[in-house]
Amino acid sequence: MYRSHNCGALRVQQVGESVTLSGWVQRVRNMGGMTFIDLRDRYGITQLAFNEGWDNDLLAQARKLGREYVIRIEGEVLERESKNPKMATGDIEVKVLKLEVLNAAKTPPFTIETETDGGEELRMKYRYLDLRRDPLQAHIQLRHRVAQAVRSYLNEASFLEIETPYLIKSTPEGARDFVVPSRMNQGQFYALPQSPQTFKQLLMVSGYDRYYQIVRCFRDEDLRADRQPEFTQIDCEMAFVEQEDILNQFEGLTKHLLKEVKGVEIAQVPRITYAEAMKKYGNDKPDIRFGMELCELMELCQGKGFKVFDEAELVVGISVPGAANYSRKQLDALTNWVKRPQIGMQGLIYSKFNADGTYKSSVDKFFDAETQAQWHQEAGSNAGDLLLILAGKESICRKAMSELRLHMGAELGLRNPEEFAPLWVLDFPLLEWDEDTERYQAMHHPFTSPKPEDIALLDSDPGKVRANAYDLVLNGNEIGGGSIRIHDRAIQSKMFEVLGFSKEEAQAQFGFLMDAFEYGAPPHGGIAFGFDRLVALLGGSETIRDFIAFPKNNAGRDLMINSPAAVDNLQLEELGIDLRPQQD
Ligand code: AMO
Repeated sequence: MYRSHNCGALRVQQVGESVTLSGWVQRVRNMGGMTFIDLRDRYGITQLAFNEGWDNDLLAQARKLGREYVIRIEGEVLERESKNPKMATGDIEVKVLKLEVLNAAKTPPFTIETETDGGEELRMKYRYLDLRRDPLQAHIQLRHRVAQAVRSYLNEASFLEIETPYLIKSTPEGARDFVVPSRMNQGQFYALPQSPQTFKQLLMVSGYDRYYQIVRCFRDEDLRADRQPEFTQIDCEMAFVEQEDILNQFEGLTKHLLKEVKGVEIAQVPRITYAEAMKKYGNDKPDIRFGMELCELMELCQGKGFKVFDEAELVVGISVPGAANYSRKQLDALTNWVKRPQIGMQGLIYSKFNADGTYKSSVDKFFDAETQAQWHQEAGSNAGDLLLILAGKESICRKAMSELRLHMGAELGLRNPEEFAPLWVLDFPLLEWDEDTERYQAMHHPFTSPKPEDIALLDSDPGKVRANAYDLVLNGNEIGGGSIRIHDRAIQSKMFEVLGFSKEEAQAQFGFLMDAFEYGAPPHGGIAFGFDRLVALLGGSETIRDFIAFPKNNAGRDLMINSPAAVDNLQLEELGIDLRPQQD
């Protein structure tokens, strides 16, 4: 027997019992005649005790153990003289009577403790060691708990978990596909799914009216903290539903998860339209844990001879609560912050509404106290607040202000990761103009239905058409997106036409779906949650890598198995792929 208990189990109730434990040596501490070993497994740490007076051979053996040795011990549970209230097992220790080394270990390249000395790259290379550390153990266990809570909620609501294939044909979801060559069909390629979108719609046609899958998706796109080339979705679809039904069902899931996993109760998830979100927050995924809404100041700012304002497409401000006492140095730092290339502004203008009721701004030469008072009134300031103003090109300026708002929120400590503020964003535009290809692209995906009242605009003003599409935002992160789908062949064809597909291209790529719509397709819609993002946020972080057992780095590489890698010529030959430079 390897163990009677795990390393997190023993308490004073077991004092006097004989136990067998197995685990990893976290640390060996020699203290005069005593040696203590912290023995670790995924459940916790138990202190093992060896004493000069007890068994000197055992003591000598213990002193030779290195970090991360795998050992098995038999011993007796003792009550500790000096207890450690910080450890679950801190009231006891185990007097070791027998010790067996199950496997020796090289000294690990970094310390395997809560705080490690290992850099990111090293830890990625030895991911299996990093995964032994407390924080990662907690993250991976959290991920499991969230998955269980998702399944129990959806199973309870009669959803069926159905798998869809990974070797498919390209689905256009905005990113590039990863492709897989086919040996049996040389010169042809499968694509890995960016999502199971078309398959879940076909399942609706097949009558499985509530589907879900916790499913891997693959997208060849630039990586960021909240993006991985392979990531997991909670993918869902329902038939015979309207947008309202879907919002209610998945608002229910969100509440269930927050309650089960975090013990947080949410009354109702507020809703905002895309247009309103852009206006109030400059962003389609606003963080509503704090206010500081954007206010447009064009009318109150222009025509007073200040060129920066007069020449701007947009003058926009936020009122930062209690920040009127910001020093010159703090204001300079903010100015430098907005001038960084990522933000791209030329400068920052401020106006202080001082606690004593006076005003002081960086543009006092042009604007008197009365005008500044109007600005502050427009921005909803109180005495003691600081108004920050950006002016310039509409698209850059709104986005910059959105970033500045988030920055100020963080600076004032208003973005508490233990607070959860979900939000529905509704009525997204159906299409967005792509400057590069000079074409409209689907903002969500081409299967999203336009709002019936906007269908007529498809011909006259496609950019104005709103979609039956919605996102679920949590603390400023898009954690889910979905839509009511087109289920009518003619409208789907029309959509492909607007997106610039010829009839033949549309038929070749999506004929299977449009054909299916002719065999009794029910009205349907759905949503997919970014599972990694959701878990990370529930774990108080925005970095999904830390919540995936074996993630890729920012260059899309797995440093542990060293992938991607070349394949040998024989393999290429079998696939009919010739990588040698072509002779002219
Ligand atoms: P969408 O493309 O919005 O919708 O994706 C759904 C959610 O998946 C997450 N996500 C990602 N997470 C990590 N890394 C990535 N590279 C990544 N890309 C997306 C986001 C996002 O909200 N088929 C539709 C869903 C539907 O219409 O039902 C879809 O995939 O949290």
